[in-house]
Amino acid sequence: MARTTLLGLPLVALFLVCNLYLVAGDGDTQYGLDMVAKASRGVCWYEKLQKPYPIDEQGVNYESCNMNQKYDGQTSYEEIRKTKERKLISDGFDPNADGQPAKQFSKVLGDSSGGAYPYKSLAHCLIQTLEAINGPKAVAELSEHINNPKPFHQAINDRENENRARHGVAPLQLDNELNVRAQRWADKLAKDCAGSHHLYDVDKNHPDLQYEGEHVGENISEGGSNTLTSDAEDGVSAANGWYSEIEGYPWPYYNGYNTGNVIGHFTQQVWKGSKKAGYGIGRSSNCDTIFIVARYSPSGNTRTQMPNGELVYHYKENVMPLVH
Ligand SMILES: *[C@@H]1O[C@H](CO)[C@@H](O)[C@H](O)[C@H]1NC(C)=O
Repeated sequence: MARTTLLGLPLVALFLVCNLYLVAGDGDTQYGLDMVAKASRGVCWYEKLQKPYPIDEQGVNYESCNMNQKYDGQTSYEEIRKTKERKLISDGFDPNADGQPAKQFSKVLGDSSGGAYPYKSLAHCLIQTLEAINGPKAVAELSEHINNPKPFHQAINDRENENRARHGVAPLQLDNELNVRAQRWADKLAKDCAGSHHLYDVDKNHPDLQYEGEHVGENISEGGSNTLTSDAEDGVSAANGWYSEIEGYPWPYYNGYNTGNVIGHFTQQVWKGSKKAGYGIGRSSNCDTIFIVARYSPSGNTRTQMPNGELVYHYKENVMPLVH
């Protein structure tokens, strides 16, 4: 059937891209489910951006995912494509629910805050495809995958460790004491609603920043909308947001000169020398904000001051290239 073939294409394209997640022996449906669940949680599209794909003259369309949907009597249409600059673009018609005429839009995915949108949009498109091919049962199973049943600490730690594995770096061991300290700080941030202040900016000698004879590293994510999601999903989203800074990393390694990009969350997440981590989450309805705090031991992003005063940075030995 022509329709199935057409709709099958994008999934095939993503199978190629996301084969990191291939589990031998899985049927197509299971594989598709896992892949879409992973896309919704956000790693796959970074690979799309990084890999050298053939791109046609107009710079588009070797990979696109089309979605046609009847909505309020109008057809909505969305296509995700990649430009020459390896940006993912979503083009479509957005039928307006208030009886306004359909609007044409073109959005660069990945520009929104919080890291959630581009994956969700791509996943949404893929879910339609999955349903067209495998029927509603596939979508029901998918929702079990996506509604992350893991507890918060496990969910965020797993996602950070999946990202570390992409660089061939050993996992961060989840640590109770670091969890307790991170939670204490997340609670305070939520109570004060005063933005994502780092404990080390407030008191760099605070005992919470020392652990087992080492300095403790700290990353914070401050996200909007306190009520929409689960702690686990917000944890995964924070880890994705931190990892997304990989786009600005000056490979082969950062030498300490200002890159103009924020990269410090990414480099801490994949820092080879960090062994343990703990996490906290605070929700504030006063400022409608979610604060997520991660603590790492030993700290990443370290540098050493030499006797002659020179600063030596340690990114080269600790931020490893992607393994493919
Ligand atoms: C993330 O954590 C590391 C290690 O503590 C720190 O150097 C870096 O500044 C943090 N990143 C940001 C952007 O806050």
